[in-house]
Amino acid sequence: MGFDELFLAALEARKKAYAPYSGFAVGAALRASGGRVFTGCNVENAAYGVSMCAERVAVGKAVSEGFRDFSELVVVADSERVPAPCGSCRQVLAEFNEGITIHMANLKGKRVTRVLRELLPESFSLESAHRRYGV
Ligand code: THU
Repeated sequence: MGFDELFLAALEARKKAYAPYSGFAVGAALRASGGRVFTGCNVENAAYGVSMCAERVAVGKAVSEGFRDFSELVVVADSERVPAPCGSCRQVLAEFNEGITIHMANLKGKRVTRVLRELLPESFSLESAHRRYGV
């Protein structure tokens, strides 16, 4: 499965976004080992703070199905600039693979690709805490 198929999966997931508060629908598709793809959309809530981002929904679906080995993620939204994963999603993705490839795409076909390490340098991990603070 190449980028195009992952992008189409993210587009389909975006259609299911529950975003009545922001009106900003986001779709994500995450490629796991063996080629399995897990999708997610944002799921908002009247208590705004408990809303979930599309990326984290996809990660939760994958991990709960026994998949933790991720290689690639597409996130798509209808924005002028490509949608960049929020800081919390970067941290959640870093838990599993700091080297995951992140494709950020909009509906107009604009795409920016980065490795997660570029988006979240020096991310927190237990290992880094041990190394830096001796805890
Ligand atoms: N959102 C995502 O789904 N992914 C991101 O990386 C950034 C933001 C969602 C959260 C909220 O439902 C809406 O976009 C507006 O912030």
